[in-house]
Amino acid sequence: MKAIVLHEVGGPQNLHLEECETPVAGPGEILVKVRRAAFNRRDVFITQGLYPGIVFPVIPGSDGCGVVAAHGDGASGPAVGASVVINPMFGWGEDPRIWRPDSNLLGMPSHGTFAEYVKVPAENVHPKPARLSDDQAAAIPLAGLTAYRAVFTRGQCTKDDVVLIPGVGGGVQTFALLFVKSIGARAIVTSSSDAKLERAKALGADVAINYKTSENWSKEVRAQSGGGPTLVIDSVGGETFAKALDIARPGARVVTYGGTTGDAKIRPFSIFWKQLDVLGTSMGSPADFSAMLELFADGTLEPAIDEVVALADVPAAAQRILAGEQFGKVVVRVSD
Ligand SMILES: NC(=O)c1ccc[n+]([C@@H]2O[C@H](COP(=O)([O-])OP(=O)(O)OC[C@H]3O[C@@H](n4cnc5c(N)ncnc54)[C@H](OP(=O)(O)O)[C@@H]3O)[C@@H](O)[C@H]2O)c1
Repeated sequence: MKAIVLHEVGGPQNLHLEECETPVAGPGEILVKVRRAAFNRRDVFITQGLYPGIVFPVIPGSDGCGVVAAHGDGASGPAVGASVVINPMFGWGEDPRIWRPDSNLLGMPSHGTFAEYVKVPAENVHPKPARLSDDQAAAIPLAGLTAYRAVFTRGQCTKDDVVLIPGVGGGVQTFALLFVKSIGARAIVTSSSDAKLERAKALGADVAINYKTSENWSKEVRAQSGGGPTLVIDSVGGETFAKALDIARPGARVVTYGGTTGDAKIRPFSIFWKQLDVLGTSMGSPADFSAMLELFADGTLEPAIDEVVALADVPAAAQRILAGEQFGKVVVRVSD
């Protein structure tokens, strides 16, 4: 089969399209013929060595949808030929509050979806919601799951919240915006690009602020939110996270799932004086994944897709993601 393989760190230029052995489904596994995959920032971080425990060679890619090609011994689930979408979170475990220490993600250490075939545990294979196209279904899993848990399971978002979503151009943040608006809460978004802010407004953002050109974006957020956001969903980290704590309304929840810009020097005073709840979250439980998929199966929600590229163009697309040019998800056309 054809696959994108990474043999060493050094950046997206080390991703190569190669001929590889087609995997065989083991006991309890399902082999999926991949139709579409999609990028996450994680795939780029792995090429840069910015991820713990990288194993080589590896086929990256955590997002994917396709068709069931074969069942391993004892595997149940969708029948051969069924259209499916893959939950990339392996082995979460029984506790809905926290993943098991030995849980991991599709696309490193196990080979991922930037390939014509991928084998995954049968319990991670879900029927594809019929109303979604292949492009849409592939765009959803990792980012949709992370955003769902951040906004609802951890953030407990309600229609009365005023939600700050910094760096809305990010794959996960576009889902956070969709989810927040789906229940009628108010969304304040920031981005480095006016074009991305326009797209966010088209998705329902109520206030859109350019954090690069604003004289003081956090002051603007505080003013526009009527005394500070009641909920923050952040993955930018660094100064952005520190400022979010400073401007959050007393009693607010501040949810963090990433640190794209690095560590932050935070002021404990902002947390204890305002009695903030600071909540960490990562990926999501099987129940989160099912509930998230339901939102797309039943409603009118559609993921924000930046572009669809061919498998051979994955290295170039990874460079574009490194430069932060995308709005929402970059989908990879693997087969038809
Ligand atoms: N814990 C988990 O389970 C989990 C799951 C998924 C992702 N993550 C992490 O979450 C982060 C985002 O992932 P992703 O896949 O959504 O990445 P992405 O699509 O590459 O998005 C990153 C976004 O961050 C924003 N950004 C960068 N620098 C910024 C700054 N100085 N101020 C404000 N915004 C800034 C940019 O928004 P604009 O383009 O709008 O400026 C950019 O689009 C990554 O660090 C990733 O590792 C964690």
